[in-house]
Amino acid sequence: MKKILAGVVIGICLPFVAGYLFVISGRMPVATKGSPLPFEKFLARKAQHAVMDPEAGKPSPLPVDEPNLLAGAHVYQAQCAVCHGRLGQPASAIAQGMFPQPPQLLPPKTGVTDDPVGETYWKVKNGIRLTGMPGYSGNLSDTELWQVSLLLRHADKLPVPVEAVLHQTK
Ligand code: HEC
Repeated sequence: MKKILAGVVIGICLPFVAGYLFVISGRMPVATKGSPLPFEKFLARKAQHAVMDPEAGKPSPLPVDEPNLLAGAHVYQAQCAVCHGRLGQPASAIAQGMFPQPPQLLPPKTGVTDDPVGETYWKVKNGIRLTGMPGYSGNLSDTELWQVSLLLRHADKLPVPVEAVLHQTK
């Protein structure tokens, strides 16, 4: 009985000890250019969807019209472009140096045009922990959060005046 108990205790402790030895061995990737750990992306995505999905089905309370898209473009230029890219421009040095790299969200990339707008709203409001993606709930109003989410949902078919704002480099 004692032997079985000792076996169980060792069996439980072993993975923790092995994990700790791996961490202190210096082989754990910590620089942004290091490769992801096995299952890192898979587990992070699973955890995110488990929290986000029940809340992410919300439809936008705002219509998709030019004033809302224009307002979203101004928010995007001020808060997001440095990481998620400017229209028709290559990714910034900041974006290229991050891990995980921020996806480029404006054409020619497809960004999040396929995602439900409520999912994008959730991500912009709450952020994504340990990725560099900030949560904006304290700093953008609910209207601004929806406006920038609508902009990204429709990024592949924006009116010309909205594109003009997104082309500005300052
Ligand atoms: C400091 C850099 C940074 C800024 C500023 C930033 N983001 Fe992000 N964002 C990221 C990173 C990094 C990711 C990738 C997270 C991941 O891999 O899970 C991300 C992910 C996202 C995603 C999810 C993309 C996908 O494919 O699922 C959306 C949507 C998004 N950001 C929107 C925004 C908006 C809107 C703003 C501005 C209001 C913004 N972000 C500002 C770094 C940033």
